[in-house]
Amino acid sequence: MKKVLKSLILKLMGFGTAFFRIFPPEISSNMALKSLNTLNTLGITLIQEKKGNDEIELFGINFKNKLGLAAGLDKNGDYINALGNLGFSFIELGTVTPRPQRGNKKPRLFRDQKNLSLLNRMGFNNKGVEYLVSKVKKVETHSHYKIAISIGKNFDTPNEKAIDDYLFCLEKAYPVTNFITVNISSPNTKDLRSLQSPRELPNFLSALKEKQHSLTKEFGYKPLLVKISPDENQIEHLKEISNILVSLEIDGIIATNTSVDHKHKKGKGGISGALLFKKSTKVLSIMRENLGKDFPIIASGGVTDVKTYWKKINTGADLVQIYTGLIYRGPQIIEEILNSIEQ
Ligand code: FNR
Repeated sequence: MKKVLKSLILKLMGFGTAFFRIFPPEISSNMALKSLNTLNTLGITLIQEKKGNDEIELFGINFKNKLGLAAGLDKNGDYINALGNLGFSFIELGTVTPRPQRGNKKPRLFRDQKNLSLLNRMGFNNKGVEYLVSKVKKVETHSHYKIAISIGKNFDTPNEKAIDDYLFCLEKAYPVTNFITVNISSPNTKDLRSLQSPRELPNFLSALKEKQHSLTKEFGYKPLLVKISPDENQIEHLKEISNILVSLEIDGIIATNTSVDHKHKKGKGGISGALLFKKSTKVLSIMRENLGKDFPIIASGGVTDVKTYWKKINTGADLVQIYTGLIYRGPQIIEEILNSIEQ
C-alpha cells in the first residue's frame, strides 16, 4: 500500500514538474520548491526505504548512498528538509557569499528542453551566509542525509581580496555543516575562475586549509572540497591543479561546474544538463587518473538518467550529484537511480 501511494505521489510530482514548465524557468523552479516544502510540512515525504547496500565512507563521513543534490538549487537553505527527504544522501546548499546580493539581471535562467539542458547566469543571488547558517541551525534532524555548504565571494569583492570573503564564509558555515565546498569555478562571477590558476591557487587554498585547521580544534574536522570547471580541460593545466590539491591535502573535488563552451541563443552563462555530460565526464576521467584511485571525487554534470549516473560511477566518481536532471524529470529520477543500485 505504502509503495503504491509513493509511486502515485511520484507520478503526480512528475505531472507537477511538467506543469510548472509553462512558467518562466526561475519562477517555475521557485514554485516547485515551495510545493515540495508544503508536501514535506504535511508529512508527505519520499524517503527511500533501504535499498541494496550502497553505503560509502568518504573523507570520514558515512553516506547512505552515492547520490546527492548539486549546489545552486537551495542557495539559502529554505528547503533543506524537503530536499533531504527526497532520498539523497547529501545536499549541497549555497553558493553563499558574505553579504546578501541580488545576482544578475533577470531573465538569467533559460531552458533547452530538447537537449535536457539549462543555461544560467544567476551570479550568486543569495541572502548571505548568516541567513543560510540560521536556516541550517533550525533543521531539527537531518541524520539520514548530510549537508555541504558551498562558499563564494561577493561580485564586488576584487580578486585580490577574494580570500577574505571565503574565510568569512568558512568560519560562519563550518560549525553547522558536514563539509565545505569551495566554489571557484562559477562562470557567472567576473574573474572568479582565475582563482583556479596555478599562480593563484596555492596561496588561496593554503589560507583556507590554515583556517580549517584552526576551526578543527573547536568544531572537529570538516572536509574541504574544491569545485572545478569543465572548461580547464587542457591536460597540463589539470595536472598542475591536481598537484596543488594533493600537496595541500585538499579533501576532495567536485568535477564539474557548468560550462561556457556553448552557443546558446540566449547568450552568456553556464550550460548544465545533457549538453554538459561529455565534457564534465572527460574532466572527471582525467582528474581520476591524475589524483589516483583513493582521492575523493564527486561527479556533477549531465546526469539525467540511470545510464549517465552509472557512467559517472564507472569513470571513477565516488559520489554523484544532480541538478538539471531533477528539474526536467522530477523526483522520479532519484527513485530510478536508487532502484538501479538495488539491481
Ligand atoms: C548551478 N550550479 C551551481 N554550482 C555551484 O557550485 N554554486 C551555485 O550557486 C550554482 N548555481 C547554479 C544555478 C543553476 C540555475 C544551475 C542550473 C546550476 C551548478 C550545479 O551545481 C551543477 O554543478 C551543474 O548544474 C552541473 O550539474 P547538472 O545540472 O548537469 O546535473
